[in-house]
Amino acid sequence: MKPELRVGVAGLGTVGASLVRQLQSKADLLAQRCGRPIVVTGVSARDRTRDRGVDVSGIQWFDNATDLARFEGIDVFVELIGGDSGPADESVRAALAAGKHVVTANKALLARHGVELARMAEKAGVTLSYEAAAAGGIPVVKTMREALAGNRINRIYGILNGTCNYILTRMEQDGIDFAACLAEAQRLGYAEADPTFDIEGNDTAHKLALLTSLAFGCEIDADAIYLEGITSITRADIEAASELGYRIKLLGVAQKTDTGIEQRVHPTMVPKTSAIARIDGVLNAVAVDGDAVGEVVLVGPGAGGDATASAVLSDLVDVARDNAVPALGLAVSRLKPYEAARMRLHEGGYYIRLAVYDRSGAFAEIARIMAAEGISLESIMQRDRARTQAGEAGAPQPVILITYETTEAAVKRALATITAQNVIAGTPQMIRIEKLA
Ligand code: HSE
Repeated sequence: MKPELRVGVAGLGTVGASLVRQLQSKADLLAQRCGRPIVVTGVSARDRTRDRGVDVSGIQWFDNATDLARFEGIDVFVELIGGDSGPADESVRAALAAGKHVVTANKALLARHGVELARMAEKAGVTLSYEAAAAGGIPVVKTMREALAGNRINRIYGILNGTCNYILTRMEQDGIDFAACLAEAQRLGYAEADPTFDIEGNDTAHKLALLTSLAFGCEIDADAIYLEGITSITRADIEAASELGYRIKLLGVAQKTDTGIEQRVHPTMVPKTSAIARIDGVLNAVAVDGDAVGEVVLVGPGAGGDATASAVLSDLVDVARDNAVPALGLAVSRLKPYEAARMRLHEGGYYIRLAVYDRSGAFAEIARIMAAEGISLESIMQRDRARTQAGEAGAPQPVILITYETTEAAVKRALATITAQNVIAGTPQMIRIEKLA
């Protein structure tokens, strides 16, 4: 057998503790598969006294992650601290500078500094691996970088945040309010330390930014992502979508268009019959559309200690086997600059919910404005009409419009005009429809 691979683990939260536990309990299996043992020789975390349900007593302890990163007794530094700056960033840079391989689950760090870190790794002749950073336990990074390396990718899309999918599923299936669903997801340990990162779509955007780079061979540009979270989605939207044959999912989508690459994260109405519509609860799913293979859909747990540690383990196995692949699928110097498609040129169908004042001519006015923008309506649904009491004429009525394919710019202009005409109360709701198989 080859000499052991010595691992330093920084961050002993749910994922870190599970990783150490699995490395200990599966030591023989992993040694067989790699032809050498994988041994944890150093750990670092904030609180030394906390019981994490894992025995770290024989392992050298470091109060400071950067000291662990430079420790001569490790070959690989595993960063499970999180965050795009501070100790995570410093320790990863220190490890690469010291010539250590790096394995990280940190999508925020990679979304912001991935290209630079990949360049550092290249220079140092070490690997930078991050299977756990996109969709947790789903092996999408290796699938994109290795299994689909012979394909031109046209589009990649997916449900990349378990917390949001859990919330939307519970809201639909059990009629539970947003806030209660979020509290439950937090209690179950799916949410980020700051749950606004989940529900505002940032976590999905970080993961999408990595997948876009892998799919299209371009630099990572998370700031260019069009971003909308799920906080504006109401039960009324979910019910209306269901009646119309759709489910609402928070999707991350990256696709080639005539004007560049579209990267967007937003609540999306997907046909109930599509594969992605059936992904419920905390599960994630990623669909990749390759020119040779067609569409490949991967489904699995996107969060949770053991599942995420499974992805980290696979990266460690790669290092132990000397299986070195460029971090972003090609040499950093060969990455193309990211060319963004303009969101205003996005084309698709739209769901629009308006609170229309119950007065004569209001509908006609809305239809006129839509027609003036060249928007053709597939259906109009007026809801709750029966609840209007006598004497309440003028009270706003929920009206739902579904458009045929049009442009984002036309819809935005139409909604701005409708809002300015005083025919509706409040702000219009708009959800993009994605025609998926
Ligand atoms: N908070 C994330 C989610 C898990 O809910 O999917 C880690 O990315």
